[in-house]
Amino acid sequence: MLEEALAAVEAASDLQELQTVRVRYLGKKGELTRGLKRLGSLPPEERREAGRRINEDKQAVERAIQERRQALERDVLEAQLESERVDVTLPGTRFNAGGLHLLTRVTNRLLDVFTALGYEVAVGPELETDHYNFEALNFPEEHPARDEQDTFWTTDGRLLRTHTSPMQVRYMEMHKPPFKVVVPGKVFRNEAVDTTHEAQFHQLEALVVGERITMADLRGAIEEMAGALFGAGTRTRLQPSFFPFVEPGAEFAIHWTNPRSRRQEWLELGGCGMVHPNVFGAVGYRGVTGFAFGFGIERLALVPYGLPDIRAFYQGDLRVLRQFRGAL
Ligand code: FA5
Repeated sequence: MLEEALAAVEAASDLQELQTVRVRYLGKKGELTRGLKRLGSLPPEERREAGRRINEDKQAVERAIQERRQALERDVLEAQLESERVDVTLPGTRFNAGGLHLLTRVTNRLLDVFTALGYEVAVGPELETDHYNFEALNFPEEHPARDEQDTFWTTDGRLLRTHTSPMQVRYMEMHKPPFKVVVPGKVFRNEAVDTTHEAQFHQLEALVVGERITMADLRGAIEEMAGALFGAGTRTRLQPSFFPFVEPGAEFAIHWTNPRSRRQEWLELGGCGMVHPNVFGAVGYRGVTGFAFGFGIERLALVPYGLPDIRAFYQGDLRVLRQFRGAL
């Protein structure tokens, strides 16, 4: 019986089978257990000896099962380790990290520069009224300057703002001078798209109002922005121009290397000037002066990225986005 039990233990090829063997010999109705139960039927003088032998056999089988179990468990573990082995020298799976859009990064950078110079940041509605987009900014009715910014009108007579300047008026209505504020935002124009024009683009507006703000402060602000973004000594230029809401008005440009021609050129960024008295009149300001400037963020972003075409910002071309992942 012992031999047979030990052979069965040895032959068990997995843990399940070993358990079956255990039940067969050592379970309540197991063959060795039954031997113990039969002791009662033996003559008393034989019982002791028979009992001892059966117990020894049981212990031997128990030990054998224990050893076999350990061996089988080791096999299972080894098989598992083998099947789950990771070859750490294999190249891993590359996950594409998301990132902020180029324009978001340029905008954030601009806001950093201006907040460091003490400016507040404000945002305003993209759906505007004629009053804020034109009227309060001193665009006379029927004035050709309205046509320069081809406007998307809504059926209820409102419009998609054509520039961020309406926020000059909204901000002044809500605040008392002196202040310095910048307004980033999306603007819309119903015009033909080409390498330097989009129908939807972004502007950054700056407005500074106080008691003795001058054209020299305007010049200084533009120079500081150019220096902070592109390095001290970056050249800027102001040229006379007309916008109804500033007087005098100017266009400003920065000196850059055009990636197409590889030549140093002036890049027109936007308009600027001293806030027109009629605009101050529309918001009830007296005894203050101020300057404002506004420019296209896409136009400016062409500089750090050296992109030759403004449309590259909106085509979602991963080659462009990846190329500049770490830039600016
Ligand atoms: C304005 O929008 C004025 N509000 C700027 C201003 C603000 C003047 C404060 C005075 C005081 P303008 O229409 O020139 O001006 O547009 C300003 C800039 O926006 C342009 O120089 C250019 O950089 C950018 N821009 C204009 N149209 C487009 C377009 N279709 N696509 C991309 N950028 C454009």
